[in-house]
Amino acid sequence: MTEPLVAGDALLVVGIAGSLRRASFNRALLCAAQQLAPPSLRIQIEELDGVPMFNADLDGATPPEGVTRLRQAVQAADGLLLVTPEYNHGVSGVMKNAIDWLSQPLRLSVLDGKPTALMGASTGLAGTARGQTQLRQAFILTNTPAMLRPEVLVGRAQEKFDGTGRLTDEATRQFVASFLEQFAVWIRQQQRGREIAP
Ligand code: FNR
Repeated sequence: MTEPLVAGDALLVVGIAGSLRRASFNRALLCAAQQLAPPSLRIQIEELDGVPMFNADLDGATPPEGVTRLRQAVQAADGLLLVTPEYNHGVSGVMKNAIDWLSQPLRLSVLDGKPTALMGASTGLAGTARGQTQLRQAFILTNTPAMLRPEVLVGRAQEKFDGTGRLTDEATRQFVASFLEQFAVWIRQQQRGREIAP
């Protein structure tokens, strides 16, 4: 986990990248989001390295440590930011595996009602559009409200980050910053809606 740069009474959002690769564009995009977030929102990055492949047999009274940690982090957060690669026109297995763990136990799932936003980077042109659509399908079952627009679809990622993983494309930086501002407003709207109709 890396600490956010902005503290205070900002909304807390847990950010997860769906790639374990050290030089992942998606993790780099998540790190950029952490830097570009407005003062009203801070992003706490959680890693998936310690989350094993889903196995219901492991999910008893003492689930794997990495799973417990992830569930607790998401539970405590005001929102969730998922940054996913697209593999073979679908969401990455790493991200889907995390969703499967977080979805259990279904009646107590930390995804239930959790305001969520999606971003993705791919080396292809479509910028993870199909992978993100698959995640939205899963959210029907988990009852996870996901912001519809704007969509952050970073295509041709190899042209938008430098060798150190910094997001260098200025238009994308501005778009991500605006996206996060809108996400913060939307989370507040979701929270107010829940107060009115719990
Ligand atoms: C890919 N890639 C890819 N890109 C895309 O736009 N659509 C796709 O369906 C796929 N499919 C795919 C499958 C597999 C197995 C791999 C390894 C790659 C390319 C992908 O966008 C690229 O590898 C990204 O760099 C992966 O994200 P990270 O690891 O950089 O975050």
